[in-house]
Amino acid sequence: MGQTPGGEAAPKAMILPLLASIVVAGAPKPISPDLFGIFFEDLNAAADGGLYAELVQNRSFEYSPLDRKEWNGLTAWTLVKERGGEGRASLRTGAPLNPDNPHYVSLVVEKGAVGLRNEGFDGIVLRKGETYDLALFACAFAGQPGTITVRLENEAGAVLASAVLGAPSDDWRKQTATLVSSGDTEGGRLVVLASGKGATGLDMVSLFPRKTFRGRANGLRPDLAQAIADLQPKFVRFPGGCVVHGGWLGLSGMYDWKKTVGPVEGRRAQPNQWGYHQTTGLGYFEYFQFCEDIGAKPLPVVPAAVSCQNTDSNWGKGQEALPLAAMKGYIQDVLDLVEYANGPATSKWGRVRAAAGHPKPFGLEYLAIGNEEAITPVFESRFKMVHDAVRARYPKLKLIGTVGPFPSGEDFDAGWRFARQERLGLVDEHYYMPPDWFWDNLARYDGYDRGAAKVYAGEYAAHEKGRENTLRAALAEAAYLTGLERDGDVVRLASYAPLLAKQGHTQWRPDLIYFDNRTVCPSVNYEVQRLFMRNAGDFHLPAAVETAGGTLASSVVRESKSGDVIVKIVSRAETPIRATVDLSSIKGLAPRAARTVLTGDPLAENRFGEPARVLPKLDTLPFAPKTTLEIPPSSLTVLRLKTR
Ligand code: AHR
Repeated sequence: MGQTPGGEAAPKAMILPLLASIVVAGAPKPISPDLFGIFFEDLNAAADGGLYAELVQNRSFEYSPLDRKEWNGLTAWTLVKERGGEGRASLRTGAPLNPDNPHYVSLVVEKGAVGLRNEGFDGIVLRKGETYDLALFACAFAGQPGTITVRLENEAGAVLASAVLGAPSDDWRKQTATLVSSGDTEGGRLVVLASGKGATGLDMVSLFPRKTFRGRANGLRPDLAQAIADLQPKFVRFPGGCVVHGGWLGLSGMYDWKKTVGPVEGRRAQPNQWGYHQTTGLGYFEYFQFCEDIGAKPLPVVPAAVSCQNTDSNWGKGQEALPLAAMKGYIQDVLDLVEYANGPATSKWGRVRAAAGHPKPFGLEYLAIGNEEAITPVFESRFKMVHDAVRARYPKLKLIGTVGPFPSGEDFDAGWRFARQERLGLVDEHYYMPPDWFWDNLARYDGYDRGAAKVYAGEYAAHEKGRENTLRAALAEAAYLTGLERDGDVVRLASYAPLLAKQGHTQWRPDLIYFDNRTVCPSVNYEVQRLFMRNAGDFHLPAAVETAGGTLASSVVRESKSGDVIVKIVSRAETPIRATVDLSSIKGLAPRAARTVLTGDPLAENRFGEPARVLPKLDTLPFAPKTTLEIPPSSLTVLRLKTR
């Protein structure tokens, strides 16, 4: 075996036809310290039945044909009669617990016990010995209702835990129970039974595992939240996406942050434009809290006071604007959001945050206005009203505009024209394009005007024809990210989209993380994102690069807090490349590098049943300031070197 200058063994007889070199020279350039983050949107059942840990489906009986045509207020619930039970369950709206969520169920008992069984979101997963917190609101409407019994059972009906709650009172009262499961099941159910002759109103029937991410009440599913936390994103964009402006639901679907904070029973559930229902249990408070818990900056997106141009499926032509008379109130809502996030606990909206258990401000730094709107005169007028009011009141906030849904074209050009005219600080570009597009656009931002708005690449993904999460697509994204690092003075933020997708509820592919009720299955694209997020820098080190005939992309950054130098090399070659990495211009480099390599069949995917086909492999190697390495075909290599 021969030794390379850096000491790495090279196989003797192997023919290595491709050569590349990366020679670092020149002054380091500061780049965005927040470059790589994530984008969470509630599609593919990402929130209810997904990241939000609530186990009861349709807990407040608000499902309706507006969510999905075959749904109604009793969807996911089944009538149960026991002990010679006679009676019925019916939906009511008079004297509700929450006028914004007016439906509740009335259990009328004539004899025995009558109740409802909830099937959860594709069943309820219960684990032996684990604790579950049950809560419901009950109210006696007629007669003399007796006690309420709650129980957890498995798919065969065997009881795994039960509790008896008090009889309902004459007004809505919360009742709670702690349930410890005596067995394991994936098809668990919750049964709520009323007894005593009379009518009992039930609403907000909720069951949470005690174990949530960081033990938060009304919290998140720990394994899924941990998979996100493991990325170490610098920011989280939420709540959409199309969900923000209501997509084809139009203005009625516009996301109203104020209806998503405060006690969950007081929030407003609403149809989700992706064809289901959002409880808003995962609301603005939970988003902010999650960001804080994982050390990411929050990046909320508020509607630009116009609906999506696809409203009522009126493709491209359906944009509606909030009436001018409503603008003052709407602008105030946006200003109030900033106060909710950043105001002192004594301010009007800071008090609401403090009442939720977070007196300290959340430190909001970014706010996006709009998502992929068609750039029309009416959009421009509404955007400007919101933008200018927020800029005047909070001049330090980094506001983000939009340049339409595509990486080029009419809206893109109009959006950029408008951004220049209004001197916007940042605009949001989106691109869902084939893998080759990403390789062809490595230099997209090299020529961007450094004096104009900076860029947030808010949604991107490499789309194979069949929308698979191949290694090839992931590497196209990786190559592109090296370009974003190089132009990290212009591109300040970037987030892959979409983030989450539940098995059996996946409406959009590809996604970053797939899951079902038991398992989390990160895609190979996730591995790329994780490697970039965990190896991000805040200075780009310029390099002269020979790319082996366009098969290689690379970037070199430095992370100030550790002093580490990080080299990323992406290859789409079908054969190995011998790449010389010359870091001689960097002082005090350690003589060894930590190396992580992600490689495999370019068409390989990490998916359910085969979750670990392509995983990063870690080793260390001797590294002289100039070292020749073998870069495997279809690979991402990350070298991390300490400096003294
Ligand atoms: O990421 C899925 C969708 O794609 C987003 O909701 C929207 O902004 C884009 O069109």
